[in-house]
Amino acid sequence: MIFQNRLQNRIGERLGNLSQLLGRRELVASTRLGGGLSLINGVSYYDFSTNDYLGLLDDPVAVAMPGGLGASGSRLLSGTSPEVLRFESEFSDWVGTPRSLLFNSGYHANIGVISSVVGPGDWVIADRLVHASIWDGIRLSGAQWRRYAHNDMGSLETLLSGVADTEGAVLVVTESVFSMDGDLAPLPDIVALCRRYGASVMVDESHSLGVLGPEGRGLVAAHGLQNDVDIWMAGLGKAWSGVGAMVAGSEDLVELLISTSRSFMFSTALPLIAVNWAHAVLDGMHSFDAQRARLNRMVDLLGGESHIIPVMVGAVGDAISVSDQFKAAGIWAPVIKPPTVPKNSARLRLSLSAALPDVAIDRVLSLRKDGVG
Ligand SMILES: Cc1ncc(COP(=O)(O)O)c(C=O)c1O
Repeated sequence: MIFQNRLQNRIGERLGNLSQLLGRRELVASTRLGGGLSLINGVSYYDFSTNDYLGLLDDPVAVAMPGGLGASGSRLLSGTSPEVLRFESEFSDWVGTPRSLLFNSGYHANIGVISSVVGPGDWVIADRLVHASIWDGIRLSGAQWRRYAHNDMGSLETLLSGVADTEGAVLVVTESVFSMDGDLAPLPDIVALCRRYGASVMVDESHSLGVLGPEGRGLVAAHGLQNDVDIWMAGLGKAWSGVGAMVAGSEDLVELLISTSRSFMFSTALPLIAVNWAHAVLDGMHSFDAQRARLNRMVDLLGGESHIIPVMVGAVGDAISVSDQFKAAGIWAPVIKPPTVPKNSARLRLSLSAALPDVAIDRVLSLRKDGVG
């Protein structure tokens, strides 16, 4: 990752200050041994760090849970399982970044990352259609913000040139595949503009991870932009069929998040069963080409830009009646209404899955042919 911009300097300075004030936090590897004992960085201790007040993690039912439960506190308090550290290390190798960090969800990741890396005096410029968790992170950060017209590079450039003289960091945030519109961000153009104006880039790949790019590594990797994107994130609740989210970037970025990202620091870690599943999917990602090809065929048949295909309607009432007609044909396609999407743009959101049989696609095609939606 190349950090040649103000955000990089700011992250480095903040880490330096934290170290001086003894405020820097470190992860330790911790494995529960039972009977109140844990192995911490390879040494066995009676463990006074957990919130397992009733000792239920030693219960035979909990112990027999496939994959195990494990967490009983935040990673900073109760330590990090070696399984998590291994997963993070292999994940960052896979996406091609120096480090990555597991968050409890995409929502945790977006609010925790943005509020950690920018603050008052900085600027965030985001596509107007980015996910609510990104907006919540921006509000929490106290940074000033603007939104650019969706995927409109002229609008982004106008905003970037307007803040070019600011002393603070400028962070541009986009999704790669937009969650409610299914269209793709012009990542190479965004990166080029950010370089020109000394801004940093954060990309939410929640809807492209596992689907787009080589072995499902996402749209950033599809464009070979791993070294040009400063902050990369993706939820594991979509194509990964799991729970949690990964944030990837430089060593400094991840170190800063460990020490300052409140949604990381103050939330009980994910159970090991979730981590083990995420790791199993990572191990299998190279072998899902058939599923990705099937998905692509469906996208072509339905004429979408990606595996998320909006059926635009407009008024909420009309969208409900279109959804009812889909339901009558055995198709569950939920209505998405404001404020999730802009006013007068209620729609059905067709979210494709390789698990759907041909007959399901045929039914959608014939509904569309009959002018439904
Ligand atoms: C683009 C995007 N980012 C983040 C999130 C939040 O992810 P999670 O459901 O893991 O909290 C979502 C979920 O809908 C999303 O669509």
